[in-house]
Amino acid sequence: MRNKLVIIKLGGSVITFKNKPLSANYKVIKNISKILSKQEIPIILVHGGGSYGHYWSVKWDMHTKPQKYHPRGISIVHSSMSILNNIIVDALYNQGLNPYGISPFSFFTNGKLNSNKIVELKKMTEHNIIPVTYGDAIYKKNNNYSILSGDILMTILSKILNPSKIIFAINVDGLYNNMNEKKIIKEIKFEKKNTYNSKSTKINLNNNLNVYDVTGGIKRKVEEATKIAGTGKDVIFINGLNSTQIQKALQNEGFKGTIFKGKKYR
Ligand code: IPE
Repeated sequence: MRNKLVIIKLGGSVITFKNKPLSANYKVIKNISKILSKQEIPIILVHGGGSYGHYWSVKWDMHTKPQKYHPRGISIVHSSMSILNNIIVDALYNQGLNPYGISPFSFFTNGKLNSNKIVELKKMTEHNIIPVTYGDAIYKKNNNYSILSGDILMTILSKILNPSKIIFAINVDGLYNNMNEKKIIKEIKFEKKNTYNSKSTKINLNNNLNVYDVTGGIKRKVEEATKIAGTGKDVIFINGLNSTQIQKALQNEGFKGTIFKGKKYR
């Protein structure tokens, strides 16, 4: 039965070795592809940059702020991301799936989001295609470019497409209460707009800071999850290095991870 759209973000720390430049984690990518090939649900994938996009963004001093970055930097960030995208697309294809890699460049015109293109992604899933988009260096306007994070793409897609499930596959088991106890927070509820709590546990956002990360690491993911949950949808964080957790999250089988409970605010 193909009726319920799921959007999954594969974090850069899951699909690449973040401390080794330009190194994809082929084993994990293959495991995830295998799990996805067993699902009979429409899926859209987003992936991060890890040791591909982030590596070059840092080298060329490129950030999320729109600016006239060096053309060598723009070119190499984009080309490294399309190489990583191809690695993922190949792995999915080899498991019998029908992935279709798409740079987020095609979602914007003159710096503005073209939501019709986003709606088309969902249409594509109806014909058994898995759109696979990613964080990238994208053209804004007047020759300004910016690094668009895959996390922000998750918020954009979730708001427009109203998926039944939103999953962030990260490289730890969920959000920790703090770095000493490292207890996974199972559920996070929102009290009022843009504030959250987890049964009065303070969330430590420094559990996953990486050597190079121009888009904000785990903090950015939590911010985007907060925005998405604020539109009424649950957001799930699980460990993508353990592909059975993805399987469990997809099949509602009691996965290990953190759920941001969705709640609507006016
Ligand atoms: C970053 O995308 C893309 C580039 C640096 C070009 P993300 O911000 O989604 O990457 P990860 O998941 O944190 O690695």
